Amino acid sequence: MKLSTRHLNAIEPLTKADIELIFSQADQFKEVLNRPIKKVPSLRDVTIANLFFENSTRTRLSFELAEKRLGADVVNFSASNSSVKKGETLIDTVNNILSMKVDMVVMRHSAPGACDFIAQRTNAVVVNAGDGTHEHPTQGLLDAYSIREKLGQVKGKRVVIVGDITHSRVGLSNIYCLQKLGAEVMVCGPTTLIPKYIHELGVQVEHNLEKALEWCDVANMLRIQLERQDTSVPYFPSLREYSAMFGLTQDRLNALSKDIVVMHPGPINRGVEITSEVADGSNSIILNQVENGVAIRMAALFILSQGLTRK
Ligand code: CP
Repeated sequence: MKLSTRHLNAIEPLTKADIELIFSQADQFKEVLNRPIKKVPSLRDVTIANLFFENSTRTRLSFELAEKRLGADVVNFSASNSSVKKGETLIDTVNNILSMKVDMVVMRHSAPGACDFIAQRTNAVVVNAGDGTHEHPTQGLLDAYSIREKLGQVKGKRVVIVGDITHSRVGLSNIYCLQKLGAEVMVCGPTTLIPKYIHELGVQVEHNLEKALEWCDVANMLRIQLERQDTSVPYFPSLREYSAMFGLTQDRLNALSKDIVVMHPGPINRGVEITSEVADGSNSIILNQVENGVAIRMAALFILSQGLTRK
């Protein structure tokens, strides 16, 4: 029971069989998570360091819960209160932590490729918890898993990803994961927030939200990543105008000829890309996504642990 890759730094290199292996293992762990005692000893004596060089709520807590529910020993690192603030480099930081006999590293970093950089220079098994604008593989997996849970399968489903595609690691991981599982993918947003290379990925592009919603079975609404945008060059006139053109409202859902599933990876900017009425409404599976994140991360960590070469 192994993936075709030693690390989980991206969905792009995974096979469909890899993704299905993670999903079937997640099914088993989801059953464990619904028991009164939610722990199994599958990662006993495995030590995992969660290295967060960027802020996180869902991903950080979800990985930590997944690790603890598998019986791993866990240490947590946040750059904001570490010796990074004194000028320590990424590789020095990671090597010092690994010298304390750490087996696996879960890492979030603002630089695309940071997780590959660590994977190539250390012996640890590395899991990418989001690297800049590159990928967020466990988010892509949990999103596709949540669609499979809600609609029975991913194959043949039409999924539109709406918003800031240019700066979104979630968008890219979703595109790769959904396509490998046989879904049709569309992106929707202002031209300035759709990358020029998008056609090479085989996705459709639509700039009219009403048409995109009518086309899809699932709408995954992304946050505007203001922290990654070059604010000297505005991508749209104002958040108010963005919201008027690309925000998901109950009126827009009511105007459709069918029910669609609404997703959001979080954190939500309520009233910008999605209204509270929709985020908290009956079409939304946003909290199911978060719940499934624990089972998906348990599955990924457990399968990757099979590749550990411990001394
Ligand atoms: N979805 C997601 O990555 O959320 P966090 O930034 O809170 O981890």
